[in-house]
Amino acid sequence: MIGNRRPEDMERITTPELAEAFIENAVKELQEQIGDGKVLLALSGGVDSSVVAALLIKAVGDRLVCVHVNHGLLRKGEPEQVVKVFREELGANLIYVDASERFLDLLKDVSDPETKRKIIGSEFINVFAEEAKKLEGISYLGQGTIYPDILESEKGIKAHHNVGGLPEELNFELVEPVKLLYKDEVRVVGRALGLPDSMVDRQPFPGPGLGVRCVGAITKDRLEAVRESDAILREEFAKNGLSGKVWQYFTIVPDFKTTGIKDGERSFEWPVVIRAVNSIDATSAEIEEIPWALLHHITDRITHEVKGVNRVLYDLTPKPTGTIEWE
Ligand code: XMP
Repeated sequence: MIGNRRPEDMERITTPELAEAFIENAVKELQEQIGDGKVLLALSGGVDSSVVAALLIKAVGDRLVCVHVNHGLLRKGEPEQVVKVFREELGANLIYVDASERFLDLLKDVSDPETKRKIIGSEFINVFAEEAKKLEGISYLGQGTIYPDILESEKGIKAHHNVGGLPEELNFELVEPVKLLYKDEVRVVGRALGLPDSMVDRQPFPGPGLGVRCVGAITKDRLEAVRESDAILREEFAKNGLSGKVWQYFTIVPDFKTTGIKDGERSFEWPVVIRAVNSIDATSAEIEEIPWALLHHITDRITHEVKGVNRVLYDLTPKPTGTIEWE
């Protein structure tokens, strides 16, 4: 599988058998490319990097070093799941870096969304590069580039580096075993590699994570309200058969408070906004019709279980005019 073009006759990977054949071939090619070298991979826990990690573990074992950077803006349970699946179940050589405090310090009092994104992106590179420099003998960098990334970078829409901006002096050769696959194929391959459904079917999650859902300047307590309400929404969607049906769903906590009543007393607390959209490629999105009774139940849980929240809203705005995220 040489070059950046998907061969015309390449069959779409839709079955476990086709995935097995792909895996066998990919492992062979990885072993040829890497020889007895060492590979570094930023493992976010997203589908693409997880599949690349699982392929590389098969191909080079502990000559793969995975780095999972927790920027403090991940969803509830996510860093724990990455450690459990990759270190404990797949035996990966995994470095877990809890950099939460570092990110939150840098983001303190920063309310502009694009500035927040830039800080999160560049600090991620800093943390990753620091870890890379501590390691010896690494000459390859694994990347979860997929075919749409290649096509978009050819059209000049975006650069396809997932960890773009790494210092030149690190001088890595790229290893991109899923670069000719579409997302649905990556999922089929992930399943064949034994990754859990919750990882393989994971909804899209932005690099800046919950940081763009904690509107305005991020505070620890409001971030916790985003994380806890998101966990309730995901749990209820899963229980009610919606997680495979809705493309992206999450909660947002704005940076203002409203008046309410709790336990017979006036409360002055944040609202939580629920967003649930369907989309093909995120360029436009439609609102998913969530059953009314379920929305009532989720509202009841969020207002009773999430600290500092007294109100729940449902965002009915398609894209356009709204974007999917609030920031
Ligand atoms: P918007 O909000 O632009 O989102 O309609 C479209 C899709 O992109 C995701 N998104 C991001 N992903 N870094 C990312 O990696 C970002 O800064 C970012 N902003 C939005 C969003 O979750 C949605 O799937």
